[in-house]
Amino acid sequence: MRQVIEIERPGSEPSRIMIGSVGECLPQLTAGLDPIVITDRRVAACYPELVEPYRHIVIGQGEESKNLDTMAVIYRRLVEEEADRGAFLLGIGGGIVTDITGFAASTYMRGVRFGFVATTLLAQVDASVGGKNGVNFDGYKNMVGNFNQPDFVVCDPAMLRTLPEREVRCGIAEAIKAGLIGSEGLFVRLEGGYETVMGDSELLFAVIREAIEIKASVVADDFTESGRRKILNFGHTIGHAVEKCCRSYTHGEAVAIGCCHAAEISRRMGFMSECDKSRVVAAIERMGLPTECDVSARELFEALLHDKKRCGDGIGFVVLDAIGRCHVERLAFERLARLMEVEL
Ligand SMILES: NC(=O)c1ccc[n+]([C@@H]2O[C@H](COP(=O)([O-])OP(=O)(O)OC[C@H]3O[C@@H](n4cnc5c(N)ncnc54)[C@H](O)[C@@H]3O)[C@@H](O)[C@H]2O)c1
Ligand SMILES: [Zn+2]
Repeated sequence: MRQVIEIERPGSEPSRIMIGSVGECLPQLTAGLDPIVITDRRVAACYPELVEPYRHIVIGQGEESKNLDTMAVIYRRLVEEEADRGAFLLGIGGGIVTDITGFAASTYMRGVRFGFVATTLLAQVDASVGGKNGVNFDGYKNMVGNFNQPDFVVCDPAMLRTLPEREVRCGIAEAIKAGLIGSEGLFVRLEGGYETVMGDSELLFAVIREAIEIKASVVADDFTESGRRKILNFGHTIGHAVEKCCRSYTHGEAVAIGCCHAAEISRRMGFMSECDKSRVVAAIERMGLPTECDVSARELFEALLHDKKRCGDGIGFVVLDAIGRCHVERLAFERLARLMEVEL
């Protein structure tokens, strides 16, 4: 099974996202390119056959490695390798590797070509799609970066077999989000629960394809996030507050909780039905993701006031009209407090 999704790039060939076997896709995509691979330690250990045939740079794992020091290590190695403007960088890994590789390739010698093999579900359905690259800076996430799309992304569902279950669930949370904002059909596929989706390779393939299609279509309409792309933030406004207040949750778990809160707020605003909201919570639960956290609404609200996407005394909040349909509402903080049942 193989599927290609294309995203237009002004002035060059479209960026191609291929879902299929990496062993089959990669040799064709890299023929004649002599790529330099950027990967992390765990991925290098799990997939030596993808990394070792090429010149490669292995970076550390985790958000602590997603910084300008790592960028300096990469630039230095590229200089040592005498990489010139004709170089091709290939990021093989999760969202951290793809964000770093895209940024390194966009800045080294004012820009060289690049591609990704996305190896986590989150990278396949979210991070590798859409052209946002960058690193953290002084404790601020993704503070330094750029917009630039890779020539290609390879998403091989079989690579998820080596991924820890908790990481898989993070990607599922983003796929649920994609269904909620853009496709009831995708959401329905995900309602069966974790074992159903992960135990059926055709279903998993369809979930990955549809989640990518939704993100790709949103991004194609609004590459630099001035309008419609904001809907990708569904579940993330409260999700980020959850991440800030309970450090034990992964990003995907916090987003899952954020989706439940946002669905409830959509219901209280009169947009979403009680029945649809209950379906959201039930689907998230069936995936083994959390739907609630033991932080008070007040604490979440206070964390939310510091959201980097706030504008003045309010925030653009993505609300669901139904499963698969959404819009952005500008909510004054006072109103949001009432909706979250927080007394000011
Ligand atoms: N650019 C974007 O639009 C965008 C969107 C969402 C998230 N992100 C970024 O993505 C990052 C998170 O990405 P992530 O969740 O993929 O995390 P990650 O890159 O840290 O990968 C998670 C862990 O899984 C390991 N791993 C990766 N693939 C594996 C495999 N196939 N088998 C076994 N282990 C494997 C990695 O070594 C790592 O330890 C964050 O930094 C976030 O900011 C970017
Ligand atoms: Zn996210």
